[in-house]
Amino acid sequence: MKQKINSLNLKKLFPKKLGNQLVKSETFIQFNGIVLNKLEKNNFLKKISYDLKNYKFVKAGAHRKNDWEKGWGENLELIKKKNIVQNFIPKYYLKNNVIRIRNNLVLTKNNSKPEIKILEKILISSLRYVNKYKGHSKIMEFGSGTGYNLLSLAKEKWISSMEPFEWSKSGIKCCNYAGKLCRKIKKANFFDFYKSIFKKKIDNKIILTVAALEQTGKNFSLFLKNCMNKTENCVFVNLEPIQELMPNTKLGKLSKKYAKKRKYLSGFYNYIKKKEKEGKIKILLEIKSQWGSKYLNGPSILIWEKI
Ligand SMILES: C[S@@+](CC[C@H](N)C(=O)[O-])C[C@H]1O[C@@H](n2cnc3c(N)ncnc32)[C@H](O)[C@@H]1O
Repeated sequence: MKQKINSLNLKKLFPKKLGNQLVKSETFIQFNGIVLNKLEKNNFLKKISYDLKNYKFVKAGAHRKNDWEKGWGENLELIKKKNIVQNFIPKYYLKNNVIRIRNNLVLTKNNSKPEIKILEKILISSLRYVNKYKGHSKIMEFGSGTGYNLLSLAKEKWISSMEPFEWSKSGIKCCNYAGKLCRKIKKANFFDFYKSIFKKKIDNKIILTVAALEQTGKNFSLFLKNCMNKTENCVFVNLEPIQELMPNTKLGKLSKKYAKKRKYLSGFYNYIKKKEKEGKIKILLEIKSQWGSKYLNGPSILIWEKI
């Protein structure tokens, strides 16, 4: 018997206590999928192991700027033709039809793309959590891509403004089109994690990254210096693949291997923990990722502030 899924309770993606802290009301994500059985899952795991041994995955880093220009350029062309939210969706979400949910692999059906929906709900829940805690209503997103995350927040009444920061010209242009769909989205700014310094002190804001620091590998220190030295009373929300927070299951281990191969974010979590021990940072919420795509566990949630 195939185990079918047609909805997922968001709370079930987190340990009970943390889930209750993060998600206030029952939130269901509708999608169609079939859970792979033991044999199918084992075969799939073998296939992932094989790929990890044999494929040359593109490594993240400064050399990829043109790739991002090109990728977001494709979205930009679509957006210019028709400025609708759908055209801002990053294409990498549309590639796979197998996702991870807890320790299961799920074959998604009817193009129902739960990854995007799950991330959206997690993003909204994380930001609502910060708003309840501090009352902040202004968001700055760094490495904002096309601005899709910010567009998905458009209906949140408590948000008063959202400012995108991106290093690719095409991404910045997309974000500016996003501003035409939602007036809360301000003019996009150039920002390079490796080189840019915050122009002036930022205060009372939510500083957000979503799968963006991911791209810097071990070179996140300038951005963190900016956060530590050039902000006042801000809360930082990092929804990033954090290797230290990936589970110790076979799936989790393959995910760590993949993150290493791609040279994704590494050392960031330990740095934050070190700063916490030194009494410079308080971690408000830290939640392991329990979902993801074929190769990678999805972003963990790390919410912190300076003290
Ligand atoms: C995986 S995408 C995520 C985009 C967006 N945050 C989202 O979730 O849709 C990574 C983003 O980081 C940006 N990025 C990569 N390296 C960067 C750097 N050094 N400075 C600023 N942005 C960078 C890319 O251009 C891209 O927009």
